[in-house]
Amino acid sequence: MTDLPSIPSIDGPRLWTSIMDLARIGATQGGGVSRLALTDLDKEARCTFIKWAREAGCETRVDAIGNIFARRRGRSPDRPAILMGSHIDTQPGGGKFDGNYGVLAGLEIMRSLRDNNIETDADIEVVVWTNEEGSRFVPLMMGSGVFSGVCSLSDALSARDSEGVSVGEELTRIGFAGDGHVPHAVDSYFEAHIEQGPVLERTERTIGVVVGALGQRWFDCTVTGFESHAGPTPMTHRRDALQAASILIQRVVELAKSFAPNARGTVGQVAVHPNSRNVIPGRVHFSVDLRAEDEETLDSMASSLCETIETIKQNQSILIDLVEVSRVPAMRFDADCVALVDRSAREAGYDPLEIVSGAGHDAINLAKVAPSAMIFIPCEGGVSHNEIEHAEPDHVTAGANVLMRCICHRAGIVGVANPSH
Ligand code: GLV
Ligand code: MN
Ligand code: MN
Repeated sequence: MTDLPSIPSIDGPRLWTSIMDLARIGATQGGGVSRLALTDLDKEARCTFIKWAREAGCETRVDAIGNIFARRRGRSPDRPAILMGSHIDTQPGGGKFDGNYGVLAGLEIMRSLRDNNIETDADIEVVVWTNEEGSRFVPLMMGSGVFSGVCSLSDALSARDSEGVSVGEELTRIGFAGDGHVPHAVDSYFEAHIEQGPVLERTERTIGVVVGALGQRWFDCTVTGFESHAGPTPMTHRRDALQAASILIQRVVELAKSFAPNARGTVGQVAVHPNSRNVIPGRVHFSVDLRAEDEETLDSMASSLCETIETIKQNQSILIDLVEVSRVPAMRFDADCVALVDRSAREAGYDPLEIVSGAGHDAINLAKVAPSAMIFIPCEGGVSHNEIEHAEPDHVTAGANVLMRCICHRAGIVGVANPSH
């Protein structure tokens, strides 16, 4: 009987080159990437991923919400697959690593297993989830949401961007409206990602073992006043929508500070109508993003915001409409998968740190249908959702090696594959 091969290391320079190559699609002047979900650039990145995955020996398939699955067959077809992945859509001025790292680390594992002719017992799959960012279409984490039943396929397909174009139309246009969305059986899901915050860098750790994630509530707020001339209209006779909106915007930030240190409050989008310097604004539309470690805190933040709205409405002739558009409950990842990430990190020679994710990730949705966990690596200055987002090549390699260990432990190495296959 021959000895089973040991878990191989990934090829760090090859992974780094792939991250840089994918970042050319939608590259910005500031060194980042702007590749919104379901645009022509997203299509180009998707086609590049499929080409690379096929070259790595994977079979590829697209589901009805455009998620791409690249599968490497194991010896036991009846066992559910081990999944890994993330997203390749970016923010409008995003970086090279957010999402792309997790997808390409998964692809690198496929390549390294193939280089080493390793046969696993269970199938392994890398997944590109559609529209994780939510900056063009709400809700965020859409593809993983449909896969895990958090969001219905019809709701997702009918979501529209600010120009009125729907997800369904765009999927058809770019050729990624696949067939069938019945999710297949999943043994477990692992996602590698940059931390997008400062904790690992400050504590000088290479690997974060993600134990859970903050809950999120997203709202759209519309404030309606009355447009009139900036000169003749006395201050006592105005119904200034932007002045009222600015009180609410301040309130969002104050609320998060009042639940420090783990609450967050952000207004990232504001549209002022008619947006002319000598017209009193008649209508303002803005987004609200609230995050916290538990649902009670999120309930308190949301109801305090509603109280402020009522006070403004009583004092001014202003209409305010606040609509919740997305909700992601605070969660904890599966204890066994978290323990496996910790063990894999230690085996690879790291002293990992337990960490809670402030960002949304597809793993949060996958955790509803399969045991899941995440691996974080540091990013420079904790900066993400910014063109200057950067991760060190050594850290990129380290996280992928930890991912490789998690996948191999879970899938089981059973032999040396026939290289001709
Ligand atoms: C996803 O990028 C988020 O906003 O958490
Ligand atoms: Mn991401
Ligand atoms: Mn992101």
